[in-house]
Amino acid sequence: MKSKIESLKSQALTALKAAKSDSEVRDLEVKYLGRSGQFNEIMKSLKDLSDEDKRTVGKLANVTKGELETAILKKYSELEMVAFDVIADKEWMDVTVPGTKPGVGHRHLISKFIDDLEVVFGRMGFAVAEGPDIETEHYNFDQLNMPEDHPSRDMQDTFWVKNLKRMVLRTHTSGVQIRHMEAHELPVRVISLGKTFRKDSDATHSPMFHQCEGLMVDTDVSIANLKAVMTDALQQIFEDPAIKTRFRTSYFPFVEPGLEVDCTCPICHGEGKLPDGVPCRLCKQCGWLEIAGAGMVHPQVLENVGYDPTKYTGFAFGWGVERVYMMKPNVNIPDLRILYSSELSFIKQF
Ligand code: DAH
Repeated sequence: MKSKIESLKSQALTALKAAKSDSEVRDLEVKYLGRSGQFNEIMKSLKDLSDEDKRTVGKLANVTKGELETAILKKYSELEMVAFDVIADKEWMDVTVPGTKPGVGHRHLISKFIDDLEVVFGRMGFAVAEGPDIETEHYNFDQLNMPEDHPSRDMQDTFWVKNLKRMVLRTHTSGVQIRHMEAHELPVRVISLGKTFRKDSDATHSPMFHQCEGLMVDTDVSIANLKAVMTDALQQIFEDPAIKTRFRTSYFPFVEPGLEVDCTCPICHGEGKLPDGVPCRLCKQCGWLEIAGAGMVHPQVLENVGYDPTKYTGFAFGWGVERVYMMKPNVNIPDLRILYSSELSFIKQF
């Protein structure tokens, strides 16, 4: 019996040495140590031996079984190491190779310009006011002295919101004037910059564009204040202290009088041509650029928000953010719509 155990042991160890995979080892484990494996057979046959032999043979069988169990565990971990070596050979990487930098974007040109405008007006004491992009007819038109059948509504090609009664994508930021005045005590001095929408699309119009609205109401606010604020702001925006402004009469229902604000062209400085005689491309030789609509807030509008028009006066102005941005001398964008085209080759230049 003892020699049988010895020979089983050497057989098992030899087979184990030759095993090449986990499953071969598992087969050997079952064959020698499993419930109906060779060693259990030996254990079962111990009952036929003398007491003395039972003890010595039983002990030998147990010790040998333990040795085989250890050898099997060792073999499993050897096979695992071999597997790791294979992985290490196949899947190694050089952690010292410099990585690929993820592309970092930047803020949109117009978002940055909006920040600049807020700073320019902020320096003159204007706070920032906001309103919703989807606006009621009441704030977009009615309160601004543009009643339903008034022809002035046709000046703006409006997107009406389907299924939302009397709601529009705001056609201008002027409605924010009303919202702000209704919610605040006098005096007010605010600008509002944000998205506006009109059914319009060509090189100088996009259905979504931004406006910059300004409003100042107090006792004794006059057109002279409007002129000073416009001139100062445009000098800062075009980084040119020589910029001059002029007013022309115009019509907007929410101001009286209504004005157009022009400024001298920041490229030709009002000359219409460059020093070498080349015609100015920006102002098309006119020397002036149309910047904003403006005027003195209509008494009816003041009354609509509960301010006393006999005591208070104010000015308001509004302009297209993209339009003015495209007038900056160092900006040369031929088609406004490219700003919203997600054209990376364009955007990456900035
Ligand atoms: N809301 C006008 C537009 O979109 C622009 C405008 C004109 C705003 C005169 C004003 C203003 O505040 O006083 O065309």
